[in-house]
Amino acid sequence: MLFDEVIAGLDVQPEGLYVDGTYGRGGHAKGVLEGLGEKGALVVFDRDPEAIASARRDVGDEARVRICHASFDRLPDFVDAASARGVLFDLGVSSPQLDDAARGFSFLRDGPLDMRMDPTSGYSAADWIATAEESEISRVIAAYGEDRFARRIAQAIGVARVESRIDTTARLAEVVASAIPARFREPGKHPATRAFQAFRIHVNRELELLETGLEAALKVLAVGGRLAVISFHSLEDRIVKRFMRRESEGDPMWRGMPNIPEAAQPRMALVGKAIRASDNEVAENVRARSAILRIATKVRA
Ligand SMILES: C[S@@+](CC[C@H](N)C(=O)[O-])C[C@H]1O[C@@H](n2cnc3c(N)ncnc32)[C@H](O)[C@@H]1O
Repeated sequence: MLFDEVIAGLDVQPEGLYVDGTYGRGGHAKGVLEGLGEKGALVVFDRDPEAIASARRDVGDEARVRICHASFDRLPDFVDAASARGVLFDLGVSSPQLDDAARGFSFLRDGPLDMRMDPTSGYSAADWIATAEESEISRVIAAYGEDRFARRIAQAIGVARVESRIDTTARLAEVVASAIPARFREPGKHPATRAFQAFRIHVNRELELLETGLEAALKVLAVGGRLAVISFHSLEDRIVKRFMRRESEGDPMWRGMPNIPEAAQPRMALVGKAIRASDNEVAENVRARSAILRIATKVRA
């Protein structure tokens, strides 16, 4: 997604070290590799063991590539501070994750209710839904799904789980849908869309890891290096936008003052404005409609 824009935004230098924090199926990673010379290097991360298996298959023999099965908030454990010329985060879930019913992400395909990007750690959506307080379920749906029927949905889940454990995506979708009055359903949108997004974000701790991941990216970037982030919904984009704005404005205490000490000066500068997918790309891939790419460069250590 936004392939040309990402590759141009990262300003790939043949001898640079680059980090793809979200390998997926390697679309962007392969684009970066094409721009690298023999002395260049690429370190790829993904939390998903299946994405890592595909990286091993596709680029595992490449001497310039290192593959790390880890969340991108752990970049500094694998990459030296101030060494990278570019870091990319292409957030959210991949198409293979959504399309595989067995991963339990989708209300369109019935499967076990899991939703973990890394099924080897943490708890599944089914486990969480079985044990969380109704008030907590309601809070998660409201905060991460921005669904006005959060309380009703949580109550419906509370009732349904007494009958039997909710452990498939189809059953969860049905329970959620039953709580939303027909006249409030959004046209062309499955009534469980928002709640499913909320559970996925919660189970994967997506927003917390994004906050720490952005700090981690800044740490491993060299001065002059680029950070490129693609987000898919407003909650993610808000975090990225605020981070880049804060880092490009410097310490607010000193704003507008003369002789600002180095530690209070901005660490980043914005590169251009937010970029959205072209009409052509959206026509080919409907998910691109909500994608937003933001780029910033590190300007001081
Ligand atoms: C939209 S896909 C990336 C697609 C990729 N750019 C490509 O061209 O194929 C997002 C990927 O990021 C991974 N991911 C999401 N959050 C992550 C995190 N905190 N750390 C590492 N990987 C993450 C997901 O497992 C998924 O494979």
